[in-house]
Amino acid sequence: MSRIVFLNGSFLPIEEAKVPFMDRGFMFGDGVYEGVGMLDGRLIDNEAHLERLERSLREVRIPNPYSRAEWTSFQEEIARRNGMTEGFIYFQVTRGVAERDFVFPENATPTVAMFTQAKSIANAPAAEKGIAVITVPDQRWKRRDIKSISLLAQVLAKQAAKEAGAQEAWMVEDGFVTEGGSSSAFIITKAGAVIVRPLSHAILPGITRQSLLQLSKEEGIVLEERLFTVEEAYEAAEAFLTSASNFVVPIVSIDGRPVADGKPGPLTRKLRELYLRMATAPAMAAE
Ligand code: PDD
Repeated sequence: MSRIVFLNGSFLPIEEAKVPFMDRGFMFGDGVYEGVGMLDGRLIDNEAHLERLERSLREVRIPNPYSRAEWTSFQEEIARRNGMTEGFIYFQVTRGVAERDFVFPENATPTVAMFTQAKSIANAPAAEKGIAVITVPDQRWKRRDIKSISLLAQVLAKQAAKEAGAQEAWMVEDGFVTEGGSSSAFIITKAGAVIVRPLSHAILPGITRQSLLQLSKEEGIVLEERLFTVEEAYEAAEAFLTSASNFVVPIVSIDGRPVADGKPGPLTRKLRELYLRMATAPAMAAE
């Protein structure tokens, strides 16, 4: 069976899903996207992802083609058609197709594309062993709070990480870590405080980040939303990342230096457990 993708209202085999040559996503990176995790057939934090999509679209002035209910039904349908119950659903909206000209076209219809990536999130080996990160300069534009499909800086950052034998790049501006190439960055101090950069135009407002902060608060874990430097990260007791496609993943080395003893830390494990419990809880409540 061929993989089924969603394009402009239709579900079709990926081989038949064609986007016109002059699509502004292709020509300008003129579009925004979202990605939501799925576990046990349920979309995790989907309302928050759809809300962020609405915000991204508003900020770049692309009309939202669908209501939240419609988006959700397409997400559920694409997972069903691909037999996926655990993994990642990607969806993007571009400004549409028009002769190449920088200014907005008068009558373009947004192009909507969605696809699934089946993957093990709950039992991913990376979550067990932890991953390595390297630090790189943050070379992105100044509106990183918008989930733009223009990801060249992240492509280069993550390729540099791969070439250094690492799995993620932490981007650095003025000596402070902004975030990962495709994840939010956290450290835990020796005193046991969880540190994460506060929201601003400098980072994407991570949905997993927000959800985890809420869960941590409920558990009485000490949180500090503030900037942290690379040096502070080197000295941290623990480090981890969050994203919709990975949930919470321990970081065991930064720029080749082990984080503490180089093993996933206990508070990180607890936070991952808390997140997994939240992600699986609604099903149990609904049964
Ligand atoms: N990336 N920061 C950046 C730059 C990201 O690209 C992402 C997500 C995050 C984490 O946000 P969330 O928890 O909402 O997934 C932070 C997705 C997963 C991606 O591009 O594949």
